Amino acid sequence: EAELYMVYKGVYLPSTVHSPQSLKYYEDFTFRPDDILIATYPKSGTTWLQEIVPLIVSGGDPASVETVPNWTRVPWLEVNETCNLYLTNRPSPRFCSTHFHYSMMPPSFFEVKPRVIYVMRNPKDVFTSAFHFYGATSFHVHPGPQSEFLHNFLKGKVAYGSWFDHVKGWLNAEDKENIMFISYEELIVDLKDSVTRIAQFLEKPLEAEVIEKIADRCLFKNMKQNKMSNYSVVPREFMDQTKSEFLRKGISGDWKNQLSAAEAEYFDKVYKDKMKDVNYKFVWD
Ligand code: PPS
Repeated sequence: EAELYMVYKGVYLPSTVHSPQSLKYYEDFTFRPDDILIATYPKSGTTWLQEIVPLIVSGGDPASVETVPNWTRVPWLEVNETCNLYLTNRPSPRFCSTHFHYSMMPPSFFEVKPRVIYVMRNPKDVFTSAFHFYGATSFHVHPGPQSEFLHNFLKGKVAYGSWFDHVKGWLNAEDKENIMFISYEELIVDLKDSVTRIAQFLEKPLEAEVIEKIADRCLFKNMKQNKMSNYSVVPREFMDQTKSEFLRKGISGDWKNQLSAAEAEYFDKVYKDKMKDVNYKFVWD
């Protein structure tokens, strides 16, 4: 199992989805000023934004979300050869995703300053979602007993490193005017309003009726039916959705069904300490 992960800039990465070659492409990637980057710690709402953003930019035209798998539609910059394969020759505006920390962005990012939508989610729910996901995929180290995974998660000894470092790094980014911060919980509470705000950030004002259509398409129950977004085309040996579906529950607060009172207390203690210097009002605080 040790070989499942490699270490890149101090964080674990699954070696099945990243290679030294892909990371080289990543480091050499050249942004365009009108690129739109979705940045997330895993399990925070990536797939949701991979649906929302193309729909906004296309003015509600569902062609791409109906025909192109999410990982090709809004490719992760750091995954295999996606930079070269999908992005180099794509017309603007290009969409891309990243699970990397702010400090890991390639040089071009800091020169070009593309627009970024950073999505964050209550870390207890991120933990819960990851616990199920890790158990269903072959490219992640098996989570083991929950107590052990909790320990590793809070220490950042999981794929893509520490949730705390990820969130703090992006919140402390320079040039914050290019970054929109939004939470999974805001999307849950008011999807239409969230779509409206994202559209404003992307300078793509839309008619109320189009916003409504987009929000409806992006409801959990509807996205779950979209084969281009529910990972059902991924082979079972890679992701076994009989163990846990990718679009699993789609709610906020599921940690209450997952963590014991003692575990939640331990989580809160670590959270309080790690986040003590952060001056940001999170929806879940
Ligand atoms: S990944 O693997 O990092 O790309 O995962 P990511 O897409 O970031 O996160 C997966 C969780 O997001 C939930 N999800 C949604 N919730 C509500 N509505 C919609 N439309 C939606 N789309 C994805 C998904 O169900 C995962 O959360 P859990 O808690 O496991 O259900």
